Amino acid sequence: MRIVSGIQPTGNLHLGNYLGAIRNWVRMQDELAEGSEALFFLADLHAISMPHDPEALRRGTLEMAAALVACGIDPARSVLFNQAQVPQHAELQWLLNGTARMGWLNRMTQWKDKAGKNREGASVALFAYPVLQAADVLLYQTTHVPVGEDQKQHLELARDIAQKFNNDFAPKDENGEEAPVFTLPEPYIPPVAARIMSLRDGTAKMSKSDPSDMSRINLTDDPDEVMKKVKKAKTDPEPLPSEREGLDGRAEALNLVTIYAALADEPVDAVLATHGGQGFGAFKPALGELLVETLRPISSRFAELMQDREALDAILARGAAKARERAVPTLDAAYTALGLVRG
Ligand code: TRP
Repeated sequence: MRIVSGIQPTGNLHLGNYLGAIRNWVRMQDELAEGSEALFFLADLHAISMPHDPEALRRGTLEMAAALVACGIDPARSVLFNQAQVPQHAELQWLLNGTARMGWLNRMTQWKDKAGKNREGASVALFAYPVLQAADVLLYQTTHVPVGEDQKQHLELARDIAQKFNNDFAPKDENGEEAPVFTLPEPYIPPVAARIMSLRDGTAKMSKSDPSDMSRINLTDDPDEVMKKVKKAKTDPEPLPSEREGLDGRAEALNLVTIYAALADEPVDAVLATHGGQGFGAFKPALGELLVETLRPISSRFAELMQDREALDAILARGAAKARERAVPTLDAAYTALGLVRG
């Protein structure tokens, strides 16, 4: 098994990022069998497809790398890198641009959503985004890609590109059998990612762009801030129910229970079985404690790494070197299959 996954390097990591994507990555890494490998990267090349601030991208990339390591991605076991240090991603993308069809890209819902009514003004990179994503995956003979609902269509496209490239260009061996250049990657359905909502509004996702810092728990918040935010979190006056149906129509209460369940690694039903009947005056301090204990080692490791730029650079440089090594044979095969002559 070879797993590959990327994440956009947004700064200001919060609990939603941790309990959503990042913790799943750590679990996949920890559960990998002998002989399998995971590559995790920061999709910094993808980040330039939308208007962006270079300084914010630089900082976001370093922060995201530090956060991943702080949360448990082990650079000695997994290959952790940023795309910009592995030029093979951009190279393979260009080669795949010959195979990807305009019609396929035109159907991508993320393209339609992000370009909106202003397609003429959207960047070429936004349109070609899914081809770069296909390159990310196909470059490594990836067998499995952990994807959420929103990225399924992009993975399907990567398979279509791989299939067409293999059909059109894969060399034949002496028995006339096709020797495929690319492996068709399968989706890997990750253990359910918790959907964490704002502490101020149980119907909006927890987000780094919410103007109120009270709406989110940042991975860098100190224990006092965490406690304060939990205690001030919006709730209703009812005590917690002892069954899940009792949370219907109580978005804020559901969110706090969901956070507790994710942190304690218990089903929501189990949390309610224990805490049902409690008012928020009792439940919130329990949740706050659990959060502080979970975040303590993460935020101290994160702060350490952010203060040691050399160590962080070294982690990314080593990861990129490993990634390049793994990428080269497939990239060479793609050049050759296309009839491109290189020295
Ligand atoms: N587009 C993905 C996202 O926004 C990030 C990504 C880039 C990715 N390349 C990838 C995910 C390759 C999986 C595999 O979430």
